[in-house]
Amino acid sequence: MPPYSIIIMFIAIAMTTNISIWAQPANQNRPTLRGLTSLRPPFVEKDLNGKLIGFFVDLLDEMALIGNFNYSLRDPGNQHTSNDPFQNRPPGLITDIHQNRADFAIADYLYRTASAQRYVEFTDSYMESNLSALIHKDRIIQNNIKTIDDLLDQRTKPPAVIPINYQQQQQQQQSNQQQSNQQQQQQPEIIQLGTVRPIYRDLSVGTDPLSRRIYEQLHNNPSNMAENRQIGIERALKTPYAFIQESINNELAMDEYCELTQIKLESQNLPKADTHYEFGIIGQKFSTHLETMNRAIRQLKANGRLDELKRRYWNRKCNGGTNNFEQYRYLMTVVTTLFSLFMSIFILS
Ligand SMILES: *[C@@H]1O[C@H](CO)[C@@H](O)[C@H](O)[C@H]1NC(C)=O
Ligand SMILES: *[C@@H]1O[C@H](CO)[C@@H](O)[C@H](O)[C@H]1NC(C)=O
Repeated sequence: MPPYSIIIMFIAIAMTTNISIWAQPANQNRPTLRGLTSLRPPFVEKDLNGKLIGFFVDLLDEMALIGNFNYSLRDPGNQHTSNDPFQNRPPGLITDIHQNRADFAIADYLYRTASAQRYVEFTDSYMESNLSALIHKDRIIQNNIKTIDDLLDQRTKPPAVIPINYQQQQQQQQSNQQQSNQQQQQQPEIIQLGTVRPIYRDLSVGTDPLSRRIYEQLHNNPSNMAENRQIGIERALKTPYAFIQESINNELAMDEYCELTQIKLESQNLPKADTHYEFGIIGQKFSTHLETMNRAIRQLKANGRLDELKRRYWNRKCNGGTNNFEQYRYLMTVVTTLFSLFMSIFILS
């Protein structure tokens, strides 16, 4: 093997290996924090060997490195999860932390609310989200839905355009007279607004105008309530239905079903509005562990690592087949390898 090929290989290997592998400090006084979670991919799930993997695991691994702690994580399998219909009982993990059964909990349904904060304390948010409405792409065209106001005002306003298949018929008939007649006959379908119970509950105590308007419609149409998130997603796929949930979850649905899209909520009060969600890790009130975690979260936010972790799990399928970040990294690897190859040949010749 000629010597320059070894140099090239070395450069290529250095470029492709992950530079974020730091040596772990050999401190034996690291506390082991007991953590609880609730399985839901891609946040956290079990691999074939029963090991927990996912966004939360990656996040906690990085936080443990910065905060110099060890942690354990398990799913206690609480029966009463996020869809608990009883309003006065806090969801399972909040109770577990409140009753000191673990040091912290992280789950996709643990976001800062006034009622949760009566029992536990939250870290800084590691993820934020506004509510959005998940809806079939065809329906937003047919019904000319552009904003959340268009969805909320459907009953009071006729649609601004004629539905697509109708336009085709009209083109064949080529008669303006007939067109206006048909337009009057056309009954616009009304897209039903629905959500899941926990979000309904959050909106019921909301005070800003947009969240009140949404709540009012949800309240007046109890049959639009979805038993769980999957049912809501399927209704949006198959029926005139807009499913309200945190955009972070709607983005996951859009990643799975490419025919779905989301209408974002635009409130005057964002990001302070009741439609804004801040996900944090919970712990006991006045817990010093939360301070350690806050330091780690702030650092991961500041250096962009948190966004990087999230990109591993979101936006993988519908938007071009693979994760944008992975594509970018692959491209950079190819470019740098080719560049070093050319340089070596240039120097040697
Ligand atoms: C923390 O984890 C490391 C690596 O798994 C282990 O070597 C160390 O003994 C643990 N420390 C404590 C205090 O459990
Ligand atoms: C939520 O909405 C606000 C205001 O429009 C925006 O600044 C913020 O980036 C949004 N957050 C997310 C996570 O989309």
